[in-house]
Amino acid sequence: MSPLSKETLQRELTTSLFGAKLFFFESIDSTNACAKTLAQADTPEGTVVITEFQSHGRGRHGRPWNAQPGENLLFSVVLRPSLPRTSAGLLTFFAAVSVARGIEQVCGTPMEYKWPNDLLFHGRKTCGILLENSMDGESVNYAVVGVGVNVNQREFESDLKGRATSLSLELDRSVDRTNLFAAIMDSMESAYPDVRKGEFSGLLKEWNAHCTTFGNQVTVAQNNERIKGKAVGLNTDGGLILETSAGMRTIYAGDISLTPS
Ligand code: BTN
Repeated sequence: MSPLSKETLQRELTTSLFGAKLFFFESIDSTNACAKTLAQADTPEGTVVITEFQSHGRGRHGRPWNAQPGENLLFSVVLRPSLPRTSAGLLTFFAAVSVARGIEQVCGTPMEYKWPNDLLFHGRKTCGILLENSMDGESVNYAVVGVGVNVNQREFESDLKGRATSLSLELDRSVDRTNLFAAIMDSMESAYPDVRKGEFSGLLKEWNAHCTTFGNQVTVAQNNERIKGKAVGLNTDGGLILETSAGMRTIYAGDISLTPS
């Protein structure tokens, strides 16, 4: 399996904005941390930080994101959309749908979506997305979209066994990471004009169509609270609508799991 390099990544890109400025590191603490530093120093929209290995990869809710070196896609993109603070969370759906479209184009298989920002393959986590937004008053100043795709990794730490998988494990072949990266950049660039206009309905519609959670009884872990209910859909802000014993409730953050029957 070929290693990533700045030259080959740039050679495959067909985009003009996404990846036009690209920082490649053999190893780094976290591409999200680096992209945030660059964003604060006014790096242009579309800047990408990509690495073969993260020593302190970040997941959601302060969890670590550990990935074996040289097997996966680990990158972050800087965005500067003119969006109100209230729409910032929708960028996660832009990222999830764009990554899924890229994977489908290269691997020929649609991904399943798990609220709010996981992509699953045969029910197991294949990609995680970490959105970190910076606000300027009531508007988005910049957003960093961090993407970790399990591509060719074939073994996972014991706590992830049974819950995580990779494209290679599910397809039983290795996947060219440079092609996949270029396809994801392309799908991000194609979807981004709507994001700039604050138009997320098409992305949410596609996300809804591939979400495997709806219709199931779920438990949402939110801080110290556990909320149980039937997942019935998304609202226009990307919130998860739950039918609970106390009525309808919309959730904006948390981790969901299927409630055992
Ligand atoms: C999650 O599912 O918890 C989100 C995981 C996001 C991981 C990616 S890997 C590239 C980028 N840099 C980070 O430190 N995290 C994100």
